[in-house]
Amino acid sequence: MRRMNRGVFGPLVAVAIVAGAACGSSNEAASGAPVGSGADAGDPVTAAVNAGRPSSVRLCYTAASQAHPARASFWVALRSNDKAARAKVIEDLEKAATDLPNEEEIALLNGLAHLWRLAEPLAAEANDVGITVQSASRAQAELERAYTLCPTDHRIPAWLGPVLINGGRAMGNGQMVADGFAVLQRGIDHYPSFVLFSKLLAYANEPATSEDFQKALEAVNANIGYCTEPASAQDPACTNTFQAAHNFEGSMVFLGDVYAKAQKKSEALGFYNQAKGASTFASWQWGSLLEERIQTLDSRVAAHGTASTTDDLSAAWQSTFQCSICHQQ
Ligand code: HEC
Repeated sequence: MRRMNRGVFGPLVAVAIVAGAACGSSNEAASGAPVGSGADAGDPVTAAVNAGRPSSVRLCYTAASQAHPARASFWVALRSNDKAARAKVIEDLEKAATDLPNEEEIALLNGLAHLWRLAEPLAAEANDVGITVQSASRAQAELERAYTLCPTDHRIPAWLGPVLINGGRAMGNGQMVADGFAVLQRGIDHYPSFVLFSKLLAYANEPATSEDFQKALEAVNANIGYCTEPASAQDPACTNTFQAAHNFEGSMVFLGDVYAKAQKKSEALGFYNQAKGASTFASWQWGSLLEERIQTLDSRVAAHGTASTTDDLSAAWQSTFQCSICHQQ
């Protein structure tokens, strides 16, 4: 088990991370994690998956969903960034979703497996319009189904919001964009430490000097505020866990990139350097990418500072590692 020490990171600290916490899978946590509210006391799965979260957030995972082989295969693939295994993982999750239509966790993982393929496609998948459209529509449908099955899992807006916003923008569907922002706000109202990060994603592509881009920065700063509150010390949104083994380091790349775009060079460098200070940094697969970020920071800031966007260096939210940078073990 590794623990992040918030003291190491100084006042800036992270967005989606920071304090000491919950490592190990939900199953491992079932035996070791502190039991949350009294209502959870009788059910070890409920107690484990909800430990450390705000009291209004309750996941609806069950022993049956946790034990399903499709869940296990998904986690092996995501944690090892094994995109070649992903098509079969999706097939198995689709079957599991048919077999167990009332399980929130299966619906959610199915939706997120499709989202992973949409965000980080293999070359052949990126060139296949059918797969792209299917990934987007199954991600949306399964995330919506998961939220209907479990209206208290307020993490779901963090994924569903961007799917609707980006999908709506791509299709010129204003209603879909509006629905995306509405669900995103619902998530922020209930689970700011987790969902504010996705507000960054919704505005990060706006022009650096625009008011909308300022909203990305504001969301980041608010997220840092929530994650540095004492109440968030055990919040999985703010820590490295089995599910997001390098949440801290990955978050720092996103934060550095957004601050670099905002022309705030010293803050950007501060975020990149915080990743290097993490106790889990040595085992992170993306260390060299971070070093390159630091070495090319001047040109990143300068390119974002010109009126043209064609010379901009690609940012984390546009990359093909936008999931694995936090999830690869
Ligand atoms: C900045 C780091 C970061 C990035 C980038 C990121 N995630 Fe996550 N993700 C997290 C954190 C933190 C959690 C843990 C949430 C929790 O336990 O409540 C999480 C949870 C998850 C889960 C677990 C759901 C469960 O059963 O608890 C899945 C699956 C997932 N993310 C998929 C993705 C996909 C797909 C992408 C890319 C589109 C992505 N993530 C991008 C940090 C990140």
